[in-house]
Amino acid sequence: MKKTDNQVLVIFGASGDLTRRKLIPAVFNLYASGLLPECYAVLGVSRSEFSDEDYRAKVVFENEHLLSKDSATEENLKGFANLIFYQSIDTKDTGTYGQLKDRLGRVDENKATCSNYIFYLSTPPSLYETISEGLADADLNTEDAGWRKLIIEKPFGYDLDSAKKLNDKLLASFSEDQIYRIDHYLGKETVQNIFVTRFANTIFEPLWNRNYINRVEITAAESVGVEKRGGYYDGSGALRDMVQNHLMQLVAFVAMEPPVKADAESIRNEKLKVFQSLRPLDEKSIRKNIIRGQYIDSKIRGEEVAGYRKETGVDPESKTETYVALKFFIDNWRWKDVPFYIRTGKKLPTRVTELVIHFQPNHHHLFANDSALANAQNMLVIRIQPDEGILLKFDMKIPGAGFNTEQVNMDFMYNQLTDVYVPDAYERLILDCMQGDATLYSRGDALEAAWEFVNPILEAWENDPAIPVYGYPAGTWGPEHADDLIDGKNMIWRYPCSNLTDDGIYCEL
Ligand code: BG6
Repeated sequence: MKKTDNQVLVIFGASGDLTRRKLIPAVFNLYASGLLPECYAVLGVSRSEFSDEDYRAKVVFENEHLLSKDSATEENLKGFANLIFYQSIDTKDTGTYGQLKDRLGRVDENKATCSNYIFYLSTPPSLYETISEGLADADLNTEDAGWRKLIIEKPFGYDLDSAKKLNDKLLASFSEDQIYRIDHYLGKETVQNIFVTRFANTIFEPLWNRNYINRVEITAAESVGVEKRGGYYDGSGALRDMVQNHLMQLVAFVAMEPPVKADAESIRNEKLKVFQSLRPLDEKSIRKNIIRGQYIDSKIRGEEVAGYRKETGVDPESKTETYVALKFFIDNWRWKDVPFYIRTGKKLPTRVTELVIHFQPNHHHLFANDSALANAQNMLVIRIQPDEGILLKFDMKIPGAGFNTEQVNMDFMYNQLTDVYVPDAYERLILDCMQGDATLYSRGDALEAAWEFVNPILEAWENDPAIPVYGYPAGTWGPEHADDLIDGKNMIWRYPCSNLTDDGIYCEL
């Protein structure tokens, strides 16, 4: 177990939804599991006026996301609340950061936290630059006494230019190794397990290349719509919200070369190389290989469901995509000409994220019926969520006369590891940052490289209104046009069910 220094977590955007829903519950889990250092404090910062007591009530004693936990005993809640403090400042005004510094100094002294500070920016992205400047003006970026780290929430930039500018601005006040760009997908155990599946098992890695893999498919489906985030989402869309960050991170784990060591720099170097090898998309390939869609009115299980344009905060004539499917290539030795397919969307039939490795079909059909099987390819399905696990599909003989074959499943489910506690993504990532481990955080250069790939799509959509946004009824698998992306006889997307192994006969959505 790595050592965790005494420290303070300063949360900007302390009165916001993410803080209440994810951050405080994650820190509480660390507290309840005994993973916080001996001396620790949380200082919430935002504009709203709260006393320490009021703030503790809001984020601890009246926080349903925390109270629902088994570990939320009276003793734990009280003990945890004692670590929490609050300071109101006008974050937009860099002149007020002196006030923050004073308060932080007092908390630090009172709790003996050795002047080690993490600043977590859980605010609208428009404030990232101001906050980092304010911290630097107040000399809260220097590491003369104790260390300083800055965690930045997504979205990191709106396009390539703004991401580069943001990187430059942050680097003017903090050094790269102080900056932790969070992508909560990297905190998911199942995402990290892609790395282990590949590099701890000799049976997979020798096959993990263009000679044996026919195509790679990633689906991140959500059954929810934009909920209360219409205002944000309408300016973002699925490509920025999911693909540029979360799904590109999955691609990097699937496609990277083995790193020299399992440490932050080696792993992040290999991920960067994947992004640098993405075949750039020209206008023709964008029109042909990228499909965007938006959910429209429909009926799901007898209930009327309003289309995206009717959601609160959304422009009634919006062309923002709530669905996107892409086909692209990675031009390197391992992956040359292997298509990668990605799709993600809101208001799809179920919530599921999985990646599917389709192995090459048999080049010679020895058995009577194997050529007739629509999907007679071996398939490795890595289920990120829910029903987390891994499924290998392969052919077996059907008992009886002759050599008739049938595809069967071999599966592993995470929930079989009953005595292993699986931490929430934020819990894992916050603990890593507390211990100075940046492996599961994005590096600035990789983030820019991912933007470089995505940016031409955004530009094409903006400049050419003739590129269609297909409507799809809420509750369906998105525009049918996405089916045409997959070429190859009998090759289609895998339509996942909520349970990893349910397919073919019965599928629960
Ligand atoms: C967030 C997006 O980053 O990820 C949301 O902004 C999306 O729109 C969410 O719903 C998905 O995360 P998860 O962990 O539920 O798959």
